[in-house]
Amino acid sequence: MAIFGKSSRGAHAAGGRSSKSRGQSAHAPQSNEQRPANDSRMARQMDARLPRIDAESNVDVRRNVAGATGRQRQAAQPNQTGQMNPLSTSSMPAATEAVGSYADLALDENAKQNLGPVVISMRNVTKVYPAQPNRPALANITLDIRSGEFLFLVGHSGSGKSTFIRMLNREIVPTSGELVVAGENLRTIKNWRIPYLRRSVGCVFQDFKLLPNKTAFENVAFALEVIGKSRHVIRTQVPEVLRLVGLEDKMDKLPDQLSGGEQQRVSIARSIVNRPPILICDEPTGNLDPQTSLGIMRLLERINRTGTTILVATHDREMVDQMRRRVLALENGTLVRDQKKGVYGYDV
Ligand SMILES: Nc1ncnc2c1ncn2[C@@H]1O[C@H](COP(=O)(O)OP(=O)(O)OP(=O)(O)O)[C@@H](O)[C@H]1O
Ligand SMILES: [Mg+2]
Repeated sequence: MAIFGKSSRGAHAAGGRSSKSRGQSAHAPQSNEQRPANDSRMARQMDARLPRIDAESNVDVRRNVAGATGRQRQAAQPNQTGQMNPLSTSSMPAATEAVGSYADLALDENAKQNLGPVVISMRNVTKVYPAQPNRPALANITLDIRSGEFLFLVGHSGSGKSTFIRMLNREIVPTSGELVVAGENLRTIKNWRIPYLRRSVGCVFQDFKLLPNKTAFENVAFALEVIGKSRHVIRTQVPEVLRLVGLEDKMDKLPDQLSGGEQQRVSIARSIVNRPPILICDEPTGNLDPQTSLGIMRLLERINRTGTTILVATHDREMVDQMRRRVLALENGTLVRDQKKGVYGYDV
């Protein structure tokens, strides 16, 4: 059964309530959509570019196979060993069940990483805030990020991590340089295309940004409502994605009835329910205890295995040092390190 596709499972009871909330909040993601969601031609084109994750094979069935990493292809093989599939919702332990350590999430030394095409390209990207004209928040950043990568973004407080993250979904406009994300040039992008860009770039924040008067189900449903998805799609996809993050029993709970880790999982569910090919996370475990943080990183790693490109800004040294992924290090707005299997690398 396709996790994000059509499902024969029954609709969740809360689904009926979600339609009431349409357009209630200005804080929801993508709420600044400036074109009606029934721009169907554009929507179809964009939809064709989004991943479609299949629970049997754990792969994006729409993405070209050449774009999958070695691990993704491995994950896509029929499971002969009886191990659970990374995205199998039926056998998946709760995302907060933190057994083991971050080292379990390290890349297998022998795994061949065949990454896909470049999905984020920066050439001399600079951001100067008007309030701080003499000190660029980011200066001359040049790098490429390929489809399927999992990266950490590290640096002291004030080094530019959030600025970097927020430029990728066009919350912040670069002052100069060229920034291309998911095929869109973010210096020249037309305003009406920004909502479409944001369907390709999911965001997870430290403070969750959940709507306090909506249940877990309704918070996730809202991300689909604002892009005009039908009630049927909402009733099938929202329970699937909440199962994926281990919250099938908490769909009716309000945010203040959930733990911090559970709230963060709702926020991740909301970010991935549209199947964005890129997921950017600004200190997603910043407010969580170490065990819960490990559960969240397990979840992100599973999402990455389906082919989603993931960038995580973090201060968590242990996480970065043990997972040994590509590390981008910022210092006073400058990229001082871009390391393939990197470490945190700071003394404080
Ligand atoms: N809206 C703004 N106006 C002016 N300056 C800003 C603004 N936002 C951030 N800055 C400045 O830009 C620099 C980078 O800030 P940024 O928030 O990107 O850092 P960070 O690495 O995310 O820090 P932290 O680890 O504390 O979250 C800092 O000097 C900060 O003071
Ligand atoms: Mg920050």
